[in-house]
Amino acid sequence: MKTSKILLVDDEEATLFGYSRYLSKAGYSIDTCKCLKEAKDRTATSHFDAILLDLKLPDGNAMDWIPELRSAHENTAVIVITGASDIPTAVKSIKMGAHHFLTKPVNMDDLSVSLSKSIEFEELRKRDSIHQRLALQKGEPYFGASPVIQKVIQYANVAAMNHTVVLLHGETGTGKGVLARWIHDHNQRKNEAFVEVNCSSLKGELLRSELFGHAKGSFTSAIKDRAGLIEVADGGTLFLDEIGDMDIEVQTQLLKTIEEKSYRRIGENKLRTSDFRLICATNRNLTEASNNGSFRKDLYYRICIFPINLPSLRERKDDLVGMIKHTLLGFSYAHFPLTEEVVNTLVHYYWPGNIRELRNMLERALLLAQGEPLTVQHFPGLEKTPASIATPKEKESGTEVWNLDEIEKRHIVRALKHFSGDKYEASSALGISLSSLYRKLDKMQQQTATA
Ligand SMILES: Nc1ncnc2c1ncn2[C@@H]1O[C@H](COP(=O)(O)OP(=O)(O)OP(=O)(O)O)[C@@H](O)[C@H]1O
Ligand SMILES: [Mg+2]
Repeated sequence: MKTSKILLVDDEEATLFGYSRYLSKAGYSIDTCKCLKEAKDRTATSHFDAILLDLKLPDGNAMDWIPELRSAHENTAVIVITGASDIPTAVKSIKMGAHHFLTKPVNMDDLSVSLSKSIEFEELRKRDSIHQRLALQKGEPYFGASPVIQKVIQYANVAAMNHTVVLLHGETGTGKGVLARWIHDHNQRKNEAFVEVNCSSLKGELLRSELFGHAKGSFTSAIKDRAGLIEVADGGTLFLDEIGDMDIEVQTQLLKTIEEKSYRRIGENKLRTSDFRLICATNRNLTEASNNGSFRKDLYYRICIFPINLPSLRERKDDLVGMIKHTLLGFSYAHFPLTEEVVNTLVHYYWPGNIRELRNMLERALLLAQGEPLTVQHFPGLEKTPASIATPKEKESGTEVWNLDEIEKRHIVRALKHFSGDKYEASSALGISLSSLYRKLDKMQQQTATA
C-alpha cells in the first residue's frame, strides 16, 4: 500500500517531535514546518495527503489559509489543532473546509483515527471525481444509483442489445433525447447514422418530405430530388422525438413504412427500403391520445413494444447531488466544495423542467458567481426559502395539497412574474421550449375558461 505523506505545521519543537515519532511509527511519511510561510512554500512544491495544522502560528492565523489550501489542493485532507477553549474557532475551520479538528493536548489515538479517516475520504472523493471526469470526457450521461433510474438503465441495456422499437416517455427535460443517443451508442449500429427528427417543429407536408424525401417537381419548392431522413437512417437509428405531436396523415404513412419496411418518396412510384432501428420519444400520454383519437391506435401499439419511462428529477432526489456535481464538472467548476446550504436549496426545489432546468440554473449561477464559490444568492428565485418552493407534499402540515397540474401552473405563473412576463426568459429558466410554454399557457387558459 502507498505510504501517505503528512505535513505537520506547529511552532513548538517538542510537539512536532512527538507527533513525528508517533506517526512515523504508524507508517506515515512525515515532513514538518514551523510557520505559515514555510507551510505555503512546502505545499507549493510537494503534494501531501494530509496536513496537520496548528492554527496559531508565529506569522499569522492559519485559519485564513484553509480556503486557499483546499481550493489549490482539493485532495489534501486538513486537520486543525486548537486550544481546548477555542471550539468556535474549530467549528469555523470546518466551515472553511477542514476535515476534522482536535483540541490540545492531542490524544494520539484520536489523531491516528482522524488522519486515516480523512485520507480515506479524500481517496474516495478523488476516485469518484476521476470517474466523473472520464465519463464527461467520453460525453457519457450521468445516471446515478436511485432504484428508479437503475431500472431505466436495466431496460436501456436490454434495448441496446437488440433492435426492437423503443418508446421513451417522460416529462420534459428528463433526458429522453440523451437516452435515445445512449441506446444507439451502445448498440451494434453505433457506427452508423443516428438521425433525429423533431416531429413537433415540422408540420404536415414539410415533415412528410423531411421523413420520406421527394422527387423533383412533386410540389412547388421541390426543385430537385431529395432523400428523406428514413433513407439517411438506413443501417442506423431513426429517432422520432415528440412523436405525440405528429400529424395524423404522417402517422398513417409512418405505420405503413414500419409494417412493410418500405416507403416511397413523395411524388415517386419507386418502392424503397430502409433498415432503420426506430426509437420514439414523447412527453404526452399516448394511451390517452390514442383513446381520444389524436394518435392512431394501431401506430401506438406498433411503437409501444418496449416502453421506457424516464422518472422526473423529484422522483430521484438521491441522484441530485451527483447530477449537480457532474454538471458542474462539465462547466469546469471543481475548485470549491458545494456548501450544505446550496445543496439543501437545490434538493428541496421541485424541478419541473428536470435535468435541463438544473443545467440551465447551474449555468446561470456560475455566470452570476463570476468565478467565486456558489452561494444560494446565485440561484435567484430559489434563495429565499426552500420551504416556499418545496413540493406541497413536503408542506402537508399546511392545509393545501396541490396536484401536479396545479404545481406546474403555479410554477409557470411564478416564473413569468419573476421575468416580468418575458416568455422567452421564463421558458429558458423553466427548462422548456418557448413553444411548450405557449402550449401550457393555452391549456391553462382553456382550463380557466371551463372552470
Ligand atoms: N443522464 C444525463 N446526464 C447528464 N445530462 C443530462 C442527462 N439527461 C439529460 N441531460 C441534460 O438535460 C438536457 C435535456 O435532456 P433531453 O433533451 O434529453 O431531455 P428530453 O427528455 O428529451 O426533453 P424534451 O421532452 O423537452 O425534449 C440535455 O441537454 C442534457 O444537457
Ligand atoms: Mg427531447
